[in-house]
Amino acid sequence: MTQSTNLRFVFFLFTSIIMPITSFSDDYQAYIVLMDKSMMPSPFSNQHNWYTSVLSSLSDEVPSMHLYTYNHVMDGFSAVLTKSQLKQLQKMPGHLATFEDTLGQLHTTHTPRFLGLKKHAGLWPVSKFGGDMIIGILDTGIWPESESFHDKGMSEVPSRWRGSCEAKGFCNKKVIGARSFSEGMKHLKENISITDDYDSPRDFEGHGTHTSSTAAGSRVQHADYFEYAKGTATGIAPKARLAMYKVVFLDNSYDAAASDTLAGMDQAIEDGVDLMSLSLGFIETRFHLNPIAIGAFAALEKGIFVSCSAGNAGPHEYTITNGAPWITTVGAGTIDRDFAAYVTPDDPKYGALIGKSVFPENLLVERVPIYYGYGNKSKESCDDYSLDPKDVQGKYIFCDGMAVSELENSGAAGAIFSSDDGNFLRPYEFNLPFVVLDMKVGHRLKKYIINTKNASISVKYGETLLGVKPAPQVAYFSSRGPDTRSPWILKPDLLAPGVDILAAWAPNRKSAPIGDDYLLSDYKLVSGTSMASPHVVGIASLLKSTHPDWSPAAIRSAMMTTADILDNNRSIIMDMTTREQGTPLDYGAGHVNPNKAMDPGLVYDIQPQDYINYLCALNYTKNEIRIISRKSEIDCANASLDLNYPSFILVLNNTNTTSNTFQRVLTNVGTSSSSYRAEVSTPATGMNVVVKPSTIFFEGKYSTAKFEVIVDVDITHAPPTYAGYFGNCGYLSWHEVNGTHVVRSPIVSAIASARPP
Ligand SMILES: *[C@@H]1O[C@H](CO)[C@@H](O)[C@H](O)[C@H]1NC(C)=O
Ligand SMILES: *[C@@H]1O[C@H](CO)[C@@H](O)[C@H](O)[C@H]1NC(C)=O
Ligand SMILES: *[C@@H]1O[C@H](CO)[C@@H](O)[C@H](O)[C@H]1NC(C)=O
Ligand SMILES: *[C@@H]1O[C@H](CO)[C@@H](O)[C@H](O)[C@H]1NC(C)=O
Ligand SMILES: *[C@@H]1O[C@H](CO)[C@@H](O)[C@H](O)[C@H]1NC(C)=O
Ligand SMILES: *[C@@H]1O[C@H](CO)[C@@H](O)[C@H](O)[C@H]1NC(C)=O
Ligand SMILES: *[C@@H]1O[C@H](CO)[C@@H](O)[C@H](O)[C@H]1NC(C)=O
Ligand SMILES: *[C@@H]1O[C@H](CO)[C@@H](O)[C@H](O)[C@H]1NC(C)=O
Ligand SMILES: *[C@@H]1O[C@H](CO)[C@@H](O)[C@H](O)[C@H]1NC(C)=O
Repeated sequence: MTQSTNLRFVFFLFTSIIMPITSFSDDYQAYIVLMDKSMMPSPFSNQHNWYTSVLSSLSDEVPSMHLYTYNHVMDGFSAVLTKSQLKQLQKMPGHLATFEDTLGQLHTTHTPRFLGLKKHAGLWPVSKFGGDMIIGILDTGIWPESESFHDKGMSEVPSRWRGSCEAKGFCNKKVIGARSFSEGMKHLKENISITDDYDSPRDFEGHGTHTSSTAAGSRVQHADYFEYAKGTATGIAPKARLAMYKVVFLDNSYDAAASDTLAGMDQAIEDGVDLMSLSLGFIETRFHLNPIAIGAFAALEKGIFVSCSAGNAGPHEYTITNGAPWITTVGAGTIDRDFAAYVTPDDPKYGALIGKSVFPENLLVERVPIYYGYGNKSKESCDDYSLDPKDVQGKYIFCDGMAVSELENSGAAGAIFSSDDGNFLRPYEFNLPFVVLDMKVGHRLKKYIINTKNASISVKYGETLLGVKPAPQVAYFSSRGPDTRSPWILKPDLLAPGVDILAAWAPNRKSAPIGDDYLLSDYKLVSGTSMASPHVVGIASLLKSTHPDWSPAAIRSAMMTTADILDNNRSIIMDMTTREQGTPLDYGAGHVNPNKAMDPGLVYDIQPQDYINYLCALNYTKNEIRIISRKSEIDCANASLDLNYPSFILVLNNTNTTSNTFQRVLTNVGTSSSSYRAEVSTPATGMNVVVKPSTIFFEGKYSTAKFEVIVDVDITHAPPTYAGYFGNCGYLSWHEVNGTHVVRSPIVSAIASARPP
């Protein structure tokens, strides 16, 4: 069995080890430079001319090099400068701030049906399947020839669209934009690999093709991944348009430079996208140092909805990335589908044993010898350094428990694990054919091996099970709240499908190792919060198409207040890691439910100035707020941590008790006058909630009503479990009187992080 290259790619999808990478030459590196546009000397007709003139005036042995001018995400540019040029620049009039360029990394079809989307009823037909929405995706590029991007039956490209395709053959009526941004990457790293990536919008890795087709892929029949998950593949918004902004390139891993990411978001705003999704993240810093937070604020002001992956750094608390309150932050959940394999010992009296596997092969392995990997007695079964390659070469290994690292290099042909942890198959296990048997079933196989000389088994891979319960569950890797920098807003906002998602892939990639060879596939199963964000942006496009007048905050509110907190077994959504009920710190307001989000009754709306008031209360300086908002005048008169958010969170900082009063305004998005009654569900101990007034009235569409929520928390008798307080989350639900709408918000308390906000 050859070592899988697949291993490498999946690993990046799953990690969010995000770190600034120092440049190859400390003395000549890329910077992002913010300028005060009001200081532009009058001879210059535009910012770009001013910046290039400033750059050419800087002296040193090597010339400075302009990378990008930014018009929307900020007033400024990026450039490669020497230390001396940087010093000169910092003394120039109009210079506001300079940041070193940094790297961010990727977070990485059956789901429309799991989400309840139906051809003839609900949000799909009402929104005309995404109508004329344009979704911008910032990712690794796109494979335009994929079946998922066919444009059969699509209407003409909306005339308001200003974007284009930088390479021939990329665009049709489905993919209407494809650009790439690699200037920053080229100067941040010595090499942008030519043999391992395309310096064009073409996707080498597959990730961007997957996220794009998840959000808005056209209907494709008979898509599958080596026989698993067979069926019709379709994006969440099958009629929406896609524009790809490639900002992620391979250097050592797949990374995005901050300067390129800003350039991609700037272009997307310029082109006129309606929504954006980013399945990547930068190291969590204060928001004015984070390119995605900066770009998303500019997008918000243009009414562009932005969703981002929450990160794959779970299951521990305070692991959220992309937690700015103007971003919709999405965690990953499982779906009700599972993959199985049959293991048949070569002795009829043991029968066929069923287990779980996602090994990508519709394959029958017949009568392969099996070795019990109990090692050399001083070690546990299949423990590190316990196996001797000459014992296991070409054989299957049986292990008590999941012990993958030792097997990778052992030369074994495959593995059977006996473990009760098989309900979350980690991706790195994809590189070896394997089956996980529940321990009870595993014992049966073990008995056969011990009692049989030259034991052998046959394995049949490639079975798909549907309707698996309970689903959804919070994926173990999904990053958990609160957000370290901004714990006063609950994050993540929502959960969406992110485990074993089938979507289009770059077909030239070696998707799966088989013997000494590799299989190529047009469709691939992958997991990550990377996969969850495109589901939400697809749903948001359906909502925006149905309600063109809704703000990004209203769209998010509609998804949050109607989200499901119960799974398909009618219990609170479980956390896969603890196998206990999850909390809002795991799943936010719940698992997105598109048909209910179409008609939420009421929404919590937020204006751009409200986010500025929040930053003021977070003690951002006026200069820092200027960087995020591009406003010259910052007024912090109404500083407040109390955003009009559809969720409530209290932070306990070295105390057992806390209380807070939240002010909220609801807007009626129903057509008639209505009234709503508050209902609070809280645990028996530890949280007390009072809502004033407890009944609110609305005159008609867009009328508003104010209320306040007073929450007292005492954790003395509700000791902490895991992240936050298991016993201490409640819900406020507004029930429509004589109507059906229910507008639900989570209320949760969490312990302050040891790290400073
Ligand atoms: C860059 O590429 C060259 C030629 O392929 C290679 O020799 C060099 O080691 C690479 N440098 C880095 C930092 O990867
Ligand atoms: C057996 O385990 C010991 C202790 O870990 C180790 O030093 C030795 O190399 C192992 N022998 C084999 C054959 O794996
Ligand atoms: C087991 O395998 C060995 C080596 O291949 C062989 O010599 C022996 O006859 C086999 N024994 C049985 C019971 O099949
Ligand atoms: C479904 O819920 C019932 C009742 O709470 C529980 O006994 C059962 O174990 C659950 N099933 C699964 C598969 O979790
Ligand atoms: C902001 O600063 C004020 C005054 O120093 C302080 O009372 C408050 O706690 C700070 N707010 C945050 C969110 O750190
Ligand atoms: C602050 O709030 C007051 C009262 O609502 C309002 O008149 C004023 O315009 C607000 N100022 C800012 C900067 O939001
Ligand atoms: C908080 O409550 C615990 C009991 O749950 C108690 O041991 C501890 O002393 C209390 N801490 C404070 C600051 O009151
Ligand atoms: C709800 O229905 C009841 C009985 O039909 C009626 O008396 C009441 O006025 C209604 N309330 C509202 C707010 O429509
Ligand atoms: C918690 O309290 C410490 C010490 O007063 C303070 O430095 C820190 O900012 C506080 N954290 C939060 C989240 O309020």
